[in-house]
Parts: sequence; structure tokens; C-alpha cells
Amino acid sequence: DKGGHRHFMAKEIAEQPTVIAESIRHYLPAGGDSVILPDTDLDFAAVDRLTMVACGTAFYACLTAKYWFEQLARLPVEVDIASEFRYREPPIPARSLALFVSQSGETADTLAALRYCAGKADRILSVVNVPESSIARESDLALQIHAGPEIGVASTKAFTCQLAVLLMLALKAAADRGTLSADQLADHAAALRGLPSVLNAALDQNDAIRSAAGRLAQSRDMLFLGRGLMYPLALEGALKLKEISYIHAEAYASGELKHGPIALIDDQMPVVVFAPRDRLFDKTVSNMQEVMARKGKVILVSDADGIAEAAEGLWAGIHMPHVHESLAPIVYAVPAQLLAYHTAVAKGTDVDQPRNLAKSVTVE
Ligand code: M6R
Repeated sequence: DKGGHRHFMAKEIAEQPTVIAESIRHYLPAGGDSVILPDTDLDFAAVDRLTMVACGTAFYACLTAKYWFEQLARLPVEVDIASEFRYREPPIPARSLALFVSQSGETADTLAALRYCAGKADRILSVVNVPESSIARESDLALQIHAGPEIGVASTKAFTCQLAVLLMLALKAAADRGTLSADQLADHAAALRGLPSVLNAALDQNDAIRSAAGRLAQSRDMLFLGRGLMYPLALEGALKLKEISYIHAEAYASGELKHGPIALIDDQMPVVVFAPRDRLFDKTVSNMQEVMARKGKVILVSDADGIAEAAEGLWAGIHMPHVHESLAPIVYAVPAQLLAYHTAVAKGTDVDQPRNLAKSVTVE
């Protein structure tokens, strides 16, 4: 049942405020600011290192979470793609946790990476959408994301729910390790509880995004740029676009632009820039201006302050609500998804069942 939407993907994008509220309720019970994990004595004060492994969109959720665990909990993090990790057979130091993120819980490479870590890491954790899946069953602690069934091959609501659960896990780590004050923890808890309404405000940009997407459908290539927490999101935006619209897209950390990809820029190249008005904004804007100087078509996704400050010369501006710095990747995922969705619809591709792809990759 598509719930009145044209595609499952559209339905799943629209469901995000509701399912994320559900996800947050499970780990951040009302009446307190503490993240509570079910049935576990896990204490991050006894952990020296976190290894996170996944594929595709779930891998980008891990890359995002690395910033959170390092910044908020001062915990060293290694992130890898499951197909690389499993054959690299890396050493797993003492006092390590291994964490596997998978919507289906059945991805063959992720499961093999988990089995490699079993008996080597202190504990095996997973973040899954399917509680009875192989990855959940073989973990010491399986955290559900509570996104509900995801039918569209392109992952959307599972990604944002993975992010919400990983952020809450990073906050639990910060509390255990004493790296955030009670006020800072309360501030994050309040921001998380406000997230569904901020996501609704992001979804309100649907028409503006559709009209920008209509002008993108003829492009052969696109670039996505971001810094800090927006860098993994740029990777996710490029993956979404490739999967369903078949437009070639690449993502770079904004600071890498001048180390090569700037050579691609001409008046045919749309460049999507994710840049909330935060402490990295000025740096990203100066990269964006380098793109404009070479006639690249810049689509800036930012808040009202950011767009007002950098309006000159934009090809399109997409207005996001103001959001707590830590939560920005969850909110900016919405325009990344909608941009891919509307571009694919404008091109007439099969949005829910893109060519050559399967929802769950159970063979390597
Ligand atoms: O079920 P999983 O989360 O383990 O799947 C991982 C990837 O196959 C998946 O995220 C894939 O990249 C999606 N098609 C992305 O939209």
C-alpha cells in the first residue's frame, strides 16, 4: 500500500517524521535526558575503540556517526565498507566494540564482517531494521531502528532512523565517558525530541525541490559537496541520485575540490552544496564560489541565514529550517532524497525498482 503516494519511495520519505519519533521514543524515554539501551550493561567508559562496518547507505550512516562519536564522546572510530573489511582482516585491539549497521540485517558482506569480529571484539553490536534478521541474531546487542518495512530499493527512512539511533548511541557514549555536560546532554535530548517537526519543515520544501529537479533531469553528471557532517551526506546524495535517476554523480569533501574535481566544472555541471550556517559555512562558501567562477550551476541547500549570505550567483537555493548542529545530517537527508526522487520521476525511471539493483544483497 503506497498510502496515496505514487511510489513507495515517496511514501517512505514522507513517513520520516513519524518513524523517527518512534525510534527516538524507544531510546530516549520521556521525562529524562538519558539514552537508555534495552537489556544491557554496556559501558562506553570501558571502550577504547569502535569499529563500524556496513555497505551502501548504511556505510554512509556509519561515516556520519564517526563524527558524532569522535566529537561528542571523544571515542576513536574506524569505519569501513564490509567487502573491504572482511578480506583485509584487520587487527581488532583490546577494549574494542564492533558495530554493524544494516537495514535488512541480511547483507552478505556485513554478516561476514560480523562473523570475523565475533570472539575478537569485546562485544558485537548491530543497528538493524529487521529484528529477526541474521545480523540481529548474531549480535550481543541488536538495536532496532523502528523504521517499519522499507520497500523502495533506495533506502530513505532507514537511513535517517539509523542516524537517529547512532546519534543516541553517541550521546550514551558521551554520558558514560563524561565528555558532555548535563546541559549539553539536555540540549541534545531536546533537539532530538524536536526533530519530527523540523523534518516536517524540511518536507515542506518538496515543491521547490521538484522544480529544481525538473531542470536537472537532462544533466549527464553532477557533483555533491559538503564538509564535516555534510560530507557523508554528500556521498549519500550522490548515491541516491545514481541509483534511481542513472545520472552519474560524485561526492567530494568540499576541501578536496581543488585537488582534482574542479577540472570537471563547466556550465553544464550542476553542483549540489550542503551547507548549514555553522562554523564550517564560510569555508564551504569559498569552495562554492570557486565553482561559480567556472560557471558551475550551484544548488545551495542551507538555512535562511546561509542562503541570504551566499545568494549571489546561485542557480537554485533550497531552504532548510534552522537545526541543532549535530542533527543537521538527519534533516538535510530529506532534500538529498527528494532531489533524487524528483529527478528520477522527471526522467521517467522505475523509482522503486531501479535497474540492476536488489533491495537486499545476500550474495557477495
Ligand atoms: O540492508 P542493508 O542496510 O545492509 O543494505 C546495504 C546496502 O545494500 C543499501 O544501503 C543500498 O546501498 C541501498 N540501495 C541504498 O539506497
